[in-house]
Amino acid sequence: MTSIAIDGPAGAGKSTIAKKVAKELGYIYVDTGALYRAIAYYLLTQKIDIEDTIALQAACDQITVTIAYENDVQQVYLNDDNVTPYLRTEETGNMASRSSAKASVRAALLDLQRNMAKEYNVVMDGRDIGTNVLPDAEIKIYLTASSKERANRRYKELTEQGIAADFDQIEADIIERDARDMNREIAPLKQAEDAVLIDSSDLTIEEVVKTILSIVGNQ
Ligand code: DC
Repeated sequence: MTSIAIDGPAGAGKSTIAKKVAKELGYIYVDTGALYRAIAYYLLTQKIDIEDTIALQAACDQITVTIAYENDVQQVYLNDDNVTPYLRTEETGNMASRSSAKASVRAALLDLQRNMAKEYNVVMDGRDIGTNVLPDAEIKIYLTASSKERANRRYKELTEQGIAADFDQIEADIIERDARDMNREIAPLKQAEDAVLIDSSDLTIEEVVKTILSIVGNQ
């Protein structure tokens, strides 16, 4: 099996690009952020205090997260319920960023991710795929973009959907999320030594996809 790991900060375009690369290669796309979001959704709805280590461990012990594909689109199940429609909110994203720093949450998802890569050719995106989940991945990409550009993309996405947005607030949230993801003790976001750095600030989606496919082709 071949694994392509794409790590990087929030809003760098990882999921859009990983999906396209997977489609081109006939690989399965695994969005690991959605797994952390599923646990975050559970913690929010069950009102679990994530600083209460015992309560958090008990919650993790009660959760089974699984992945299925419907028409090639990843669906995340939390104890048999498909929670995919509830995962993309800012509230869930922020809770995912906070709760993913906890050892019990990371441990709950490690085997699921590794088993996917054992069973299928995957393009897996996240924060610690190249450094921690799949350290032997054949291809590792670290995809980033300036915080201004990432905030710009998010702002456009929201306003196009008719949702009011504040650019400065979005950029501040992005910077805060980066700091949390990069500075946590366990499996922080960082570029693996053997990862190729791609800064997408001035590149189109197609240009990034092409660059990654050429790296795959040269292997
Ligand atoms: O990629 P995303 O925005 O859906 O991820 C949500 C949060 O989940 C992110 O802020 C940090 C965490 N995460 C992680 O710690 N490790 C991963 N491999 C993927 C996501």
